[in-house]
Amino acid sequence: MSPDERREFARDLGSRLPAGFTLGVATSAFQIEGATHEGGRGESVWDAFTSQPGRVVDGSTADRAADHYHRVPEDVELMHDLGIDSYRFSFAWPRLQPEGKGSLKQAGVDFYERLLDRLDAAGVASMATLFHWDTPNELRGGWFNRDTAQRFGDFALQMGERFGDRVGSWVTVNEPATVTLEGYALGVHAPGASRLFNALPAAHHQLLGHGLAVQALRAADVTGPIGIVNVHSPVVPASGSEADAAFASLFDVLHNRIFADPVLLGRYPVAPEGFEPLFSALADVDPADLLVISEKLDFYGLNYYAPSKIAAGSGAPATPDGASAAMASLPFHLEAWPEFPVTGFGWPIAPEFLGTALDDLATRYGDVLPPVVITENGASFADAVTLDPDDGTPRVHDGARIDYLAAHLDAAVRAVSGGGAASVIDLRGYYVWSLLDNFEWAAGYTQRFGLVHVDFDDFTRTPKDSYHWLRRVAESR
Ligand code: BGC
Repeated sequence: MSPDERREFARDLGSRLPAGFTLGVATSAFQIEGATHEGGRGESVWDAFTSQPGRVVDGSTADRAADHYHRVPEDVELMHDLGIDSYRFSFAWPRLQPEGKGSLKQAGVDFYERLLDRLDAAGVASMATLFHWDTPNELRGGWFNRDTAQRFGDFALQMGERFGDRVGSWVTVNEPATVTLEGYALGVHAPGASRLFNALPAAHHQLLGHGLAVQALRAADVTGPIGIVNVHSPVVPASGSEADAAFASLFDVLHNRIFADPVLLGRYPVAPEGFEPLFSALADVDPADLLVISEKLDFYGLNYYAPSKIAAGSGAPATPDGASAAMASLPFHLEAWPEFPVTGFGWPIAPEFLGTALDDLATRYGDVLPPVVITENGASFADAVTLDPDDGTPRVHDGARIDYLAAHLDAAVRAVSGGGAASVIDLRGYYVWSLLDNFEWAAGYTQRFGLVHVDFDDFTRTPKDSYHWLRRVAESR
């Protein structure tokens, strides 16, 4: 799109958003806060992981990240000027409970009180995630250990009691699929375990932790709605062959269904034919756990980035966030999508598959699906700051990100209002990932997702063109 077309599209899109639809931006604690050694914060599995050579592609740590810990007023001001309704952030568990147990650390509580005060003053609502991957390192075994679910439930109870009257809405766990697959099965994220299918207990324990957290937040009488955030990637086989089809359904179960079915239907999906032995860890879980995991939710958070094309045979290509021996040993792999342009991460830009993800949710879960919120969507690109030739103002011309966001928000609105399967979905909002350029996990600082550029040497913030574009969408409602 040309700059004029983008402006026009922003106005049009804003005018088509349903009444009461929430526009927001999202971040997570570990990726932006920095100050990892301040206020008595404990170590997280990600601090331990990033200190191991070779784990993060640029060798960086999140010790300073985007320095948000020291820049809350400036960052909230940016959100206020952007005109969005809501800010999704995460509470850093190790900042609040350095050892993953015991009473809440006052310095941590004070930090989030200051953030919530600023948001209130700016008229920006809050959506707070209790777990966005920064498991306290003291919880030995992490999510592989069932006790971590209990610890998380206790943490949720204290957080609900402390912040229950002021957080706008609650997310228990962010993307248990990514933590399980990248962190416990493939070893490319913290804690760096390569257990392949033996990683599945980590999935079950995160889901149990989610259910216990829902119960705890309800027991604490929090005022806001409660949900989970799952990342969904529609899966297609690379060819019409039987082998590709079989591995595609295996990947759909692994990436999507294992995490959505128990939460929404109270049972794990049936393992695809021939792969049953791989799922034995989930076949005989205690039915009482499934009752906890399927506690009724007030909303379902959907993160969408890209679809997955699956082919039989090993051959995982290295990605910008690394590769591992475990990945290369799988009997299937992700194929490229030559038909789509790609983001900085090499992910296909395929907004129509956001419609597919919504259709799948409607078809698979129908009546039991609570209202849906798109809790993350966005793209990394190699952005650079340039000076405006007229007045020397720093600018970041990220037209590709504008086109990505425009096409995806448009696809979502069309899917839920277009008369197809997704039209039964009550879509309540859309959050852009991310407000700020940040520490992108195993990709370090090599992938910029922000609406606001961050200079990682002096932490200067520069709103990108996409920031100004989103403000226009917000204003046009
Ligand atoms: C995660 C974010 C991450 C983003 C881009 C999501 O999977 O929740 O923490 O930065 O994707 O990779």
